[in-house]
Amino acid sequence: MQEESLSQPVTSRLTRYALFLVATIADDERAATAVRSLCPDLSGLVRAVGFRNLDAGLTCMLGIGSAAWDRLFGQPRPKELHPFREINGVHHAVSTPGDLLIHIRGERMDVCFELGMQIVTRLGAAITVVDETHGFRYFDERDLLGFVDGTENPVGRAADRATMVGAEDPAFAGGSYVIVQKYLHDLASWNALPVERQENIIGRKKLSDIELEDSVKPTFAHNALTTVFDGDQQLEIVRDNMPFGEVGKGEFGTYFIGYACSPQRIERMLDNMYIGNPPGNYDRILDFSRPVTGSLFFLPTATFLDGVS
Ligand code: HEM
Repeated sequence: MQEESLSQPVTSRLTRYALFLVATIADDERAATAVRSLCPDLSGLVRAVGFRNLDAGLTCMLGIGSAAWDRLFGQPRPKELHPFREINGVHHAVSTPGDLLIHIRGERMDVCFELGMQIVTRLGAAITVVDETHGFRYFDERDLLGFVDGTENPVGRAADRATMVGAEDPAFAGGSYVIVQKYLHDLASWNALPVERQENIIGRKKLSDIELEDSVKPTFAHNALTTVFDGDQQLEIVRDNMPFGEVGKGEFGTYFIGYACSPQRIERMLDNMYIGNPPGNYDRILDFSRPVTGSLFFLPTATFLDGVS
C-alpha cells in the first residue's frame, strides 16, 4: 500500500514570532545541488533546533518558486505554479524575485533565528537572501494599523481544506500554494483618519473586532473585497500576517502571507483589492499601505522533501 504523504505544517497554530526569508538560487548547478541536498535534511534541522526548546513549537515551511521548480525538480510540476503576477490597477502590486521561501514560526525569536542561521549557513553561496523580515505579534493579535488581524482564518479541518491541494493534482496532493507581500504603512496618515473611517476601510470595529453589519459595511471594505465565492462556496485561505518594523527608520509594516490549495483564490482577492470590485471600487488600505515585494511559491509535502535525492 502507498504511504500517505505528510504535508508541511502550514496550518499549525499562529505563533508569537516568525522569520520570513525569500532567497534566489545562484545560477550554477552546484547551487541547485546544494538546495536539493538540503530538502531531505530540513526536517532533521528543525528537530535539532526545536528540541532545544520544545515549548517554542518551532516549525519551518519551505516554498519553491516557479522557475526554481524547473531547475531543481523538472517534471512533473505543480499544475498552478507560476510567477507572481504583477497587478496594475488603481494601485500597483509588484512582482519581485524569489526562488525559495523559508517561513519559520515559533514562540521564541531565539529558536527562529537559530534555525534561519543554520539553513542560510548551510546553503552558503548557493543562495542570496533578497528579503529578510522578522515578524512579531503585537498587542491582542493586532497589526500596526491597530486592527486585530487573523480573526476569520479557518481552523482545523476547514483550514486543511482551504490550503491543501487535492485530487485535482494527484501528484502534488497535500501540497499548498503561498503568496507573500511585504507591505509598508504610512502610519502617520492612517492614524490621522477618524477611527470610524478606519473601521469602514477594514470592515470591522477597531476596539471590539466585531464585524460591521452588512447594512453599514461599505462594498470597498477590506473584508468585503477579500471574501470570494465559487457558486455559494466561500473560497477561504489561511493567513499568518505579522507586523514588523524599525522605529528608528520610521518603517512600519505588515508581512502578508496567504496559504491556499490554489493560487487563483488569492489572486482573485488581490484583483478585488487592487483593481476593485467593480473596477474602481478598490481597497482603501492601499492608500496607506504599499507592497514592496510580491512572490508566489509552491510547498511540496514534507514526504516529497524527505524523498529528494
Ligand atoms: C496591508 C496588508 C493587510 C492588512 C493590514 C490586512 C489586515 C486585515 C484585517 C485587520 C482583517 C480583518 C480581521 C481578519 O479576519 O483577519 C483582514 C481580513 C482578511 N484579509 Fe487582510 N490584510 C492585508 C492584506 C491582505 C491581502 C493581500 C489579502 C489577500 C490577497 C488579504 C486577505 C484577507 C482575508 C481573506 C480576510 C478575511 C475576510 C473575511 O472572511 O472576513 N489581506 N485583513
